Amino acid sequence: MNLDNAGAARRLMARLDEFAQFTDEPGRLTRLYLSPSYRRACERLAEWMLAIGLEPEIDPAGNVHARYEGRKPGAPALMVGSHIDTVRDAGRYDGNLGALAALAVVEQLAESGERLDHAIDVVAFGDEEGVRFPTTMTGSRALAGLVPADALGKRDADGITLREALTKFGGDPERLFALRARGIAAFVELHIEQGPVLEAEGLALGTVAAINGATRLAATVQGLAGHAGAVPMALRQDALAAASEMILAIEARARKESDLVATVGRIDAEPGAINVIPGLVRFSIDIRAPRDEWRRRAVSDIATALQAIADRRKIDLVLAPTHEAKAYVCDPRIVAGFDAALVAVGQKPFHLPSGAGHDTMVMGQICPAGMLFVRCKGGISHNPAESITSEDCALALAALTRFVRDFRV
Ligand code: GLV
Ligand code: MN
Ligand code: MN
Repeated sequence: MNLDNAGAARRLMARLDEFAQFTDEPGRLTRLYLSPSYRRACERLAEWMLAIGLEPEIDPAGNVHARYEGRKPGAPALMVGSHIDTVRDAGRYDGNLGALAALAVVEQLAESGERLDHAIDVVAFGDEEGVRFPTTMTGSRALAGLVPADALGKRDADGITLREALTKFGGDPERLFALRARGIAAFVELHIEQGPVLEAEGLALGTVAAINGATRLAATVQGLAGHAGAVPMALRQDALAAASEMILAIEARARKESDLVATVGRIDAEPGAINVIPGLVRFSIDIRAPRDEWRRRAVSDIATALQAIADRRKIDLVLAPTHEAKAYVCDPRIVAGFDAALVAVGQKPFHLPSGAGHDTMVMGQICPAGMLFVRCKGGISHNPAESITSEDCALALAALTRFVRDFRV
């Protein structure tokens, strides 16, 4: 079947709907890295790749790849893709759009038997979200040779280590550190914007100029559990009350600087009973900024403020870093290529930064990299209400295809 762009975009939207059925939690989309539904998504993608004559591989880190050779076999490849793991209760476009759009570009070429001077590597990464383990972007980091040395020992909420999960999935923990992307000339990623800028500008597409850096920390607050009726207020070491004060301090520090954002997205209190003073609290901290020095200063200020709260309340605090990604300025040649592609499909070139993190910032450590954003409704993301129009999807696919065709090694 040889589809035009509109037909290919319809097929892409239908596949995104089908993909949204691969979930770990009935009734909502949650597809965590290396879970059974992540496995099913990998296999379905591999089936689509096989159907157009590619030879898919699920690599030792659980990424799915396939290479579409250029006119001369062995030519350097443009890698195109995104991630297929999701947050909890996710929308269906974050990551998945870019991974399945990469396949759609190659599919159109394969269906018309057309080869380009360069090869194309379609990739679907795992662990971009960093939701299951205290690791982030393990899939792209593996290809870039940037997996932290202690990653395999990291545990999920059920105590399963990354090593165990990879083995169960059919990956290969021993080869995680030896994986490398080979023969890659550049990496590009199509992604929903996840913010409101394009919609406000009345534009369907935009070229990403730079991606904010991020620091993630795991906070452990140790107080003393006790009887909710018997211990007077002045004598308590309430870990949850301390954590609450800490969370407000984090918010206050982030509010002091425009462009800096900080989020506590997860909190667990133990033992978790109505009549017990909480003795132990764990919470996550995610801090982002466009400039690394702003982010590092905020991390340091937050650590100082939290320690002061812990000291005053006679509580123990441990802050453990779980992720650090430097801000990434997208490669000027890729930016120019996307600008040209936007013009070619009748769109006004427009640049915007990315507040969200992306595999592009990891791939950008080993090759020129860049991104194209497509508008999403209300700027809503990490939410089941995430939505894009079929028209915007068709434009995005046309622009990505244009970029891939015009790319020169
Ligand atoms: C990925 O969605 C991130 O947290 O930026
Ligand atoms: Mn994403
Ligand atoms: Mn995301």
